[in-house]
Amino acid sequence: MTDTHTDYIPALRFGWLTSLYDPLIRWTMREAVFKPRLVEQAHIQPGHRLLDLGCGTATLILLIKQDHPEAEVVGLDGDSKVLALAITKIATAGVHIKLDKGMAFDLPYPDHSFDRVFSSLLLHHLTLEQKRQTLKEVFRVLQPGGELHVADFGKPHNAVMVTVSLIVRWLEEAADNMKGLLPELIREAGFDGVEETARYSTAFGTLSLLKAVKPRGKMKSEEDYQRRNPSHSARSPSSQT
Ligand SMILES: C[S@@+](CC[C@H](N)C(=O)[O-])C[C@H]1O[C@@H](n2cnc3c(N)ncnc32)[C@H](O)[C@@H]1O
Repeated sequence: MTDTHTDYIPALRFGWLTSLYDPLIRWTMREAVFKPRLVEQAHIQPGHRLLDLGCGTATLILLIKQDHPEAEVVGLDGDSKVLALAITKIATAGVHIKLDKGMAFDLPYPDHSFDRVFSSLLLHHLTLEQKRQTLKEVFRVLQPGGELHVADFGKPHNAVMVTVSLIVRWLEEAADNMKGLLPELIREAGFDGVEETARYSTAFGTLSLLKAVKPRGKMKSEEDYQRRNPSHSARSPSSQT
């Protein structure tokens, strides 16, 4: 993997706050509720290959591995510091999970490598263009019939969440999320069956769970995409563990 992209926003915006990420998310984002729900909606089968984009400290992938030890799980993040925390947690849990350092909008994986891709609290870190590019990359690396499962900020769904969003929309790149653009962006990337499966009030605004399916038989448009973006196919990652 080439390491040319370094433009990412760390888990809590500033690198020096990263070690506080786990307790903060646990207490403010209803993590113990929404992450198990995200795993459940993915209907993971034995032998599935799974990718967690922007895996952070590996809480979601550890949950997946604990519920589905027979699945092959890969976590990718752009930040070495957060990956170091993930490596420690994975070692403590005594499981095998492959971690890669890389950018969500330039995935170091061959086409059709995964059955499920998860993206939890990543997309609001990306600019609109990076969101578009990331979703195209997810489409490319998924098998036909494979699924994308997203947990991220969405359009506020009640008066309290509208008030909270007035502040939070200025944080990171969350404004597109709060305008309710994610489902449309996912559709634009070629996905079918885009639906919101759950919605939660949190300290930072409405958290929306989304599901989308890569249609079988979209090979033609994928080939067109790769012709236009020849650097985005059949690359291999460099592993962290
Ligand atoms: C808010 S944290 C979410 C972590 C984890 N997925 C969770 O649900 O707790 C966002 C993560 O995305 C990573 N990230 C931000 N931009 C990225 C990019 N362009 N490519 C890969 N990872 C990125 C950050 O380093 C951070 O670990």
